[in-house]
Amino acid sequence: MAQVLRHVPGIRDPNVLVDAASRDDAAVYRISPDRALVVTVDFFTPIVDDPATWGAIAAANALSDVYAMGGKPLFALNLVGWPREKLPMSLLGEVLRGAQSVVDRAGCLILGGHSVDDPEPKFGMVVVGEVHPDRMLTNQGARPGDLLVLTKPLGIGILATALKKGILDESELAQAVEVMTTLNDGAARAAVAHGATAATDVTGFGLIGHLRNIVDGSGVGARIDVARLPLLPGATELAAQGSVPGGTRRNLETIPVEFGDDVSSMEQLLCADPRTSGGLLNAIPEDRVRGLSDDLRAGGAPAYRVIGEITAERGVIRIGRGSGL
Ligand code: CO
Ligand code: CO
Repeated sequence: MAQVLRHVPGIRDPNVLVDAASRDDAAVYRISPDRALVVTVDFFTPIVDDPATWGAIAAANALSDVYAMGGKPLFALNLVGWPREKLPMSLLGEVLRGAQSVVDRAGCLILGGHSVDDPEPKFGMVVVGEVHPDRMLTNQGARPGDLLVLTKPLGIGILATALKKGILDESELAQAVEVMTTLNDGAARAAVAHGATAATDVTGFGLIGHLRNIVDGSGVGARIDVARLPLLPGATELAAQGSVPGGTRRNLETIPVEFGDDVSSMEQLLCADPRTSGGLLNAIPEDRVRGLSDDLRAGGAPAYRVIGEITAERGVIRIGRGSGL
């Protein structure tokens, strides 16, 4: 999307705080000195069989881009593509019910939406949120010495691919669903409260792609310790059996990263795993990490972990093992 939007003529409005140029998670527009709107849109085809679960995942994923900016969602609009002739409308009702349950949990409202006839079902949302212009979190602002904290485990894309192949067992599916429907609200509040310097959520471009956005956005480098990466149970085994999403290799081919000799090809796959409704990746000053970790633990973040640090080696991402963090 960023590639296409690059060709939109330059926008000159001082109230535009974040636009497509910075590869951030949402657009931010200031409406008064202490309030800005955070607006994002996301939709996709089914990734699980159960319609309500799909709706719930899509909602959590759409809300996440508001949280990734340090914002609070206010209201949402549903976006629906539906094959009216092929699938009963009652099934769509299930999707919307699943989405509603997650939006309720976020303290957000669904105020409308739009549907079109579509040969393949699609569901997602436009979400409008707000943030204080001085407290928003973007890809810019990370400083050398900041630690990198990830709040959800990696491997969702691998599990989703295994599900499509029919080789995912019940407990693995339940874990993946749990992770994908967990809101990033607590993680976002904790990041803002403890002075995170940059944040994004980890989605389609995998850990390396979204870290690349922070590194480029902030004009810094980063170092990741693979031994510290939180993984979903079963992810390594399923990837070894060939459950690797197509986007993984594309991410590895297009996103510049220097892997150490001691990083296995399996670990490289996990670093590039494209995912839906991933966790937040924050950069945060070292002396603030303890407070952040305490809040994340109290808020039930599935697998928060310090995974690396920001370096002064501008533009360079090094991924190795046991970097002594
Ligand atoms: Co995002
Ligand atoms: Co998004």
